[in-house]
Amino acid sequence: MIKIFLFGISGKMGNFIVDCCRNTDCEVVGGYDIVAHPTIPTFTSVSDISVDFDVIVDFSRACLLSEVVKLAKATKKGVVFATTGYSEEDEKVISDLSTLVPVLRSGNMSVGVNLLLSLVETATKALADKFDIEIIEKHHNQKADAPSGTALMLANEVKKIKTDAKYLYGRQGESKREKEDVTIHAVRGGTIVGEHDVIFAGNDEIITLSHTALSRKIFAEGAIKAARFIATATPGLYSMKNAL
Ligand SMILES: NC(=O)c1ccc[n+]([C@@H]2O[C@H](COP(=O)([O-])OP(=O)(O)OC[C@H]3O[C@@H](n4cnc5c(N)ncnc54)[C@H](O)[C@@H]3O)[C@@H](O)[C@H]2O)c1
Repeated sequence: MIKIFLFGISGKMGNFIVDCCRNTDCEVVGGYDIVAHPTIPTFTSVSDISVDFDVIVDFSRACLLSEVVKLAKATKKGVVFATTGYSEEDEKVISDLSTLVPVLRSGNMSVGVNLLLSLVETATKALADKFDIEIIEKHHNQKADAPSGTALMLANEVKKIKTDAKYLYGRQGESKREKEDVTIHAVRGGTIVGEHDVIFAGNDEIITLSHTALSRKIFAEGAIKAARFIATATPGLYSMKNAL
């Protein structure tokens, strides 16, 4: 049995992880959250954590990064970082941690979005010279950060090929499009789980690569796969490509 310690255990994703672990080789044995889980021991300070576990999974908030790192360093256990909204400084902290313990970080844990990343790379290679590339992401009205971590992953996939890509966030007023612009538009409303469109707009033709998440279950199942992988990996920085 792989024992998971879960940051954000009482959140929307936390609940999905606990549910999806049932009848698998994984079990959530403890969590960190200001809201206590009804049946699993929940902590609000790393120094109080008294449960044994094999791997840390984090679906909480970027502001808890120092707590996650503290626990990983103290226990020498690997971490799956699924939280989004990290600053460049935070990314450096995560990358430094990966020299000590195995770390997998992904703004999107689903199989479908990880395939979409490869499709975007292929399309950018073929089309970047002549087509304009724009990204639209849509999420529920409770999402804290914008643009989504997934939209940034998709933009970074474009920038790997189109190295002069300049990210813009929304567009208004007198702002004619420049050739190197890759504009990311964030829509927030209702209970939308997550939608991402990468639009390649050319002369008289448009290709749209699109992914729609219909349930948070896809992220939970991906994160459990990632936890299984990280529980036995050697120190290093991994992506979902390694875990899938
Ligand atoms: N990588 C992915 O595939 C993926 C998928 C979905 C969501 N996410 C990300 O995961 C994170 C969580 O998403 P969610 O929808 O479950 O959010 P949520 O708001 O439902 O859950 C967050 C949980 O963290 C707890 N929390 C927040 N601040 C805290 C603090 N200071 N101390 C202790 N606990 C605190 C909250 O009480 C809550 O239970 C977000 O960053 C979201 O963008 C990633």
